[in-house]
Amino acid sequence: MSKLAIFGGPAAVTIPAPDWPIVEESEIKAVNEVLSSGKWRMSGKVNEFQELFAKFQDTAFGVACSNGTVALEMAFKAFDIGAGDEVIVPPYTFIATATAVLRANAVPIFADLEPDSLNMDADSLEALITERTRAIVPVHFGGLPCDIDKINAIARKHNILVIDDAAHAWGTKWNGQGVGSHTDGATFSFQMTKNITAGEGGIFITNNEEAANMAWSYHHGGRSKDGGWHEHPVLGTNYRMTELQAAILTCQMVRLDQHTTRRETAAAVLTQRLESLPGIKTIPRDKRVTRRAWHMYDLFFVPENWEGVSRNRFVDALNAEGVPCSGGYQLPIYRNGFFKEVPEGRKGCPFTCPYRDGPAPVYHELYLPNVERAIKRAVWLHHPLLLGGEKLANQIADAFEKIWENRKELSSN
Ligand SMILES: Cc1ncc(COP(=O)(O)O)c(C=O)c1O
Repeated sequence: MSKLAIFGGPAAVTIPAPDWPIVEESEIKAVNEVLSSGKWRMSGKVNEFQELFAKFQDTAFGVACSNGTVALEMAFKAFDIGAGDEVIVPPYTFIATATAVLRANAVPIFADLEPDSLNMDADSLEALITERTRAIVPVHFGGLPCDIDKINAIARKHNILVIDDAAHAWGTKWNGQGVGSHTDGATFSFQMTKNITAGEGGIFITNNEEAANMAWSYHHGGRSKDGGWHEHPVLGTNYRMTELQAAILTCQMVRLDQHTTRRETAAAVLTQRLESLPGIKTIPRDKRVTRRAWHMYDLFFVPENWEGVSRNRFVDALNAEGVPCSGGYQLPIYRNGFFKEVPEGRKGCPFTCPYRDGPAPVYHELYLPNVERAIKRAVWLHHPLLLGGEKLANQIADAFEKIWENRKELSSN
């Protein structure tokens, strides 16, 4: 086995990772058409895209918007979530999943992860439900769906909503149906690192027409679909997507199915090879996951088996071998930024609020064991790698094996 690349040896991966984002002639043509039309907003491209995307996820309605963060806010507004309400979210996600709850003036409550994945543990939810709970927000991390059936059953039992943060799950299917179609609604992000992107962008999808209309009003200055331009029956804002964004995204939809299949194939090769490595734990896939979007190839590093090599040292060695990767989030959200100061440093709604009885959650005192463990063990491989075909997937697996075989050298240097 050759010398590790981190010590100057040849890298195991010789095929470069595909560039991201991908721009083809179709996007350039579509953008030029919008530019030369002079109609850079509300000419119909956004409507076309939101219908296309909602249908793609097997839902009836879509409201496209400027990004995935405000898509979550729109979803909460659509279902009238606000002061006095609590919303259950996972602690392993982008900060917006939790801060969008606060922007709706509601209180996020953190549920732990499953022990063997980066998804919310459905079995931990019932203990967190109170009379204030209005919604559960599962994040389908890396495109892998949470246990939607179990979460829905709990929500139905307690008469609460399920709104998926599907920011990583474009095209993900659970039991053959797109995510967002089994629940009250879902939000997606089209930011630049995402598998379909316009640089920025987002959407809220739902089968609930009333909620779709409310989200539409909220994101459109508080107008109503059947009212006039200067009539504003709802307190709203402007979160509209531009025609330029929609034109790019409509082109990217053409490639999404094919890309998802390619990522599925490469991920299957990787899983099959990595499963036998004692230093790695791959993330199990439920049979009800009929398609996974693979926003990243995520796995766990098992430190006990590495004879002194740390996860971060492993990530450095893997990058040196030509596999762009990271250790992911450095903190559970409840210890990140704003949440460190709650409630001492913050006064007023939503924590101390006439609509809320009982004390505010003290986030920095939380210790949810599975997320704390995941923070130290997760490794994320960037999704463009999965577009490089089976040959690249095999080279990536070779890189893992090479580092594993040279672990003693890595730990002692
Ligand atoms: C899980 C999750 N939710 C929400 C968002 C917010 O999306 P955006 O960056 O488009 O605002 C992201 C973005 O990275 C995300 O990963």
